[in-house]
Amino acid sequence: VSLKRFNTFGIEAKAQRYADIQTLDDLKSILKLEASKPIFILGGGSNMLLTKDIDALVLHLNLKGISVVEESNNHIILEANAGENWHDFVLYCIEKGYGGVENMSLIPGNIGTAPIQNIGAYGVEFKDVFESCKVIDIKTQSETTFYKDQCNFGYRESIFKQALKGKCIITSVRLKLTKNHHNLSLDYGAIRNQLLEVNITNPTIKDVSDAVIAIRKSKLPDPKDIGNSGSFFKNPVITKSQFKKLQNNFPNAPHYVVSDSEIKVPAGWLIETAGFKGKRFGNYGVHNKQALVLVNYGNALGKDIYNLALLIQQTIYRLFSINIETEVNII
Ligand code: EPU
Repeated sequence: VSLKRFNTFGIEAKAQRYADIQTLDDLKSILKLEASKPIFILGGGSNMLLTKDIDALVLHLNLKGISVVEESNNHIILEANAGENWHDFVLYCIEKGYGGVENMSLIPGNIGTAPIQNIGAYGVEFKDVFESCKVIDIKTQSETTFYKDQCNFGYRESIFKQALKGKCIITSVRLKLTKNHHNLSLDYGAIRNQLLEVNITNPTIKDVSDAVIAIRKSKLPDPKDIGNSGSFFKNPVITKSQFKKLQNNFPNAPHYVVSDSEIKVPAGWLIETAGFKGKRFGNYGVHNKQALVLVNYGNALGKDIYNLALLIQQTIYRLFSINIETEVNII
């Protein structure tokens, strides 16, 4: 089976065997039969770069459904199955008047993979609304619930990427959302500017979502038109003394203070400063509006994009002595 349709980078790669999983029972029975052999879990395919065919059984998690778990005057807890598309879920929440996810509008991928890398944008992270998730152990098929404090969430990090990598499958997620929205996250200058531009001073969750959609559309390529996986790299966190050295050479380097001793530098700025922004190498390259995004203009090979990523990492290290890690999973 070709996986081209199932990864937002639009890379051609084949699955040796493939199963479309629609129910939890199907998932359990297939795991019972196959758990001793290599298995590859595929969700929304929005955070991976395929550099080769997959020599395993690909389980495409398409578990659907959203339900209400609990509701009070101020809050609601929703449970969504892993295969629900994230942005469709956000739009559903906004239509129903449930707040908390509006800043994360238009992030590609499914809700079941959102906890793995603790997706985030414009000042809000998935962990901020996360209540718990249900997980199935690949080997034993036993089911467990993971609550927020058990997930080791960090910047684009969680236990599912570390200790539990390859060991379990997230089958559903519970999120706690607001019904009265007193605390919209409007700290990001980009959101405030966008709201000003459309003359909104007292925004609703829909206004915030619309603003985020407008910002993202203006700088991030739509995978339907140009293959990509969003930010290809994580923003590096460096020590204050490393940052001082950087500032000596680049007094205007943008940065955010993370803690007393750590500073985060936007990788997009490093890549742009290194001269890669908008660079095109045949049918792949670096996006011209956001240097953090690598793009497939059509029929590019995963290997080529991977080699470009290595070249960027080496160049950044040579110029700035900073290591940038990939955010995207390289397969
Ligand atoms: N910048 C440049 N050149 C570029 C891109 C960025 O100089 O080509 C500098 C600018 O100084 C800009 C700053 O970087 O002000 C920040 O850029 P932006 O607001 O676009 O955010 P980012 O740090 O590049 C992160 C996330 C995005 C998320 C945005 C907004 C990571 C790895 N990426 O990008 O997430 O949408 O913040 O919150 O943390 C994703 O993970 O796929 C993703 C798109």
